[in-house]
Amino acid sequence: MELNDSYGRNINYLRLSVTDRCNMRCFYCMPKEGIVKKEHGAVLSYEELLLVATTAVELGIEKIRITGGEPLVRTGIVDFLERIAKIPGLRHLALTTNGLQLAEMADDLYQAGVQRLNVSLDSLNPQVFSDITRGGDLSRVQAGLDAAEKVGFPPPKINCVIMRGVNDNEILDFVEMTLTKGNSIRFIEYMPAVKEDNWHQYSISGEEILQKIAGKYSLEQVDKGPFSGPSRDFRIPGARGSIGIITAVSGHFCSECNRIRVTSTGQAKGCLFSDEKTDLVPYLRPPDRERLAEVLRSIVSTKPERHSITTEGYAHQNFTMSHIGG
Ligand code: GTP
Ligand code: 5AD
Ligand code: SF4
Ligand code: SF4
Repeated sequence: MELNDSYGRNINYLRLSVTDRCNMRCFYCMPKEGIVKKEHGAVLSYEELLLVATTAVELGIEKIRITGGEPLVRTGIVDFLERIAKIPGLRHLALTTNGLQLAEMADDLYQAGVQRLNVSLDSLNPQVFSDITRGGDLSRVQAGLDAAEKVGFPPPKINCVIMRGVNDNEILDFVEMTLTKGNSIRFIEYMPAVKEDNWHQYSISGEEILQKIAGKYSLEQVDKGPFSGPSRDFRIPGARGSIGIITAVSGHFCSECNRIRVTSTGQAKGCLFSDEKTDLVPYLRPPDRERLAEVLRSIVSTKPERHSITTEGYAHQNFTMSHIGG
């Protein structure tokens, strides 16, 4: 079955958040004190998340990416992933993690059937990494990246949010990882997720990042693979890893959008930046598969054409990245 939206885009990708909790506190994602804990029962059970996933796959979803918060902090995640991986018709299971617990969990994740990992990593300097994440230990993430490859994963894709005056001096260091380590790296434009007036001070456009790289290396364009996301990918000729630019703010990848999202509390969203959301809980408690399918179909058919964020500003009301899962 194919799921198409009203703009003719094929929707085959579900981003499913399993928790909005996290063991880091990146300053661009969360306030210092963390987020207000969801009340007991607000977070969907694994059974409920599985029903959402199964129904979505029956409708035409072929790839599921598990997100958070930090998905690995939720107890029982490995068993859950194993069940998701077994959904008939699902072709690709991926997970986005901050990597802090990856060294301990990589083998279990691989055995559970996760096919690909994306790891957030914004600095290769321990102090800068700790400052951005408010206390994160870079060496744990690096150990996690090594462990992932050792147990059989392809080199994880690295997500790096580039911020002016914070880590923009490390762009070429990350680029070199595509030559030396074989990881693919995606530079993400800083999105105004935490409400702050002076977010522009951090923003660097994907174009500027590319120019910086092109000042030192020649780059060839890389074709998009199946189920590919918003990243525009390049490669230094001969390098194992690719270099991607996710122009979340300045870019126009919305015309190729292939995804919907469901948060850990069962809010379905047709667009990352839209304030529109639909509560799936009434169709999960008690479970009503038919109506759940109907509602998921309507999320797809009412998907907005593009986001409303611009380089000038963004008038959002409810935007918590850790809740939506990016
Ligand atoms: P692949 O499946 O490997 O292509 O991953 P991805 O890039 O879609 O997912 P990931 O979780 O690694 O997210 C990387 C960055 O892209 C994060 O900053 C996300 O917030 C951002 N991102 C992911 N999907 C979308 C989207 O649909 N719209 C926008 N604007 N940003 C997105
Ligand atoms: N701007 C850009 N990227 C962000 N992410 C989280 N918050 C933001 C933001 N404000 C990224 C994380 C992670 C991915 C899921 O989303 O770095 O890699
Ligand atoms: Fe946690 Fe990821 Fe948010 Fe950082 S960006 S606080 S690692 S959810
Ligand atoms: Fe799709 Fe919205 Fe992301 Fe654009 S901003 S790619 S429409 S989810």
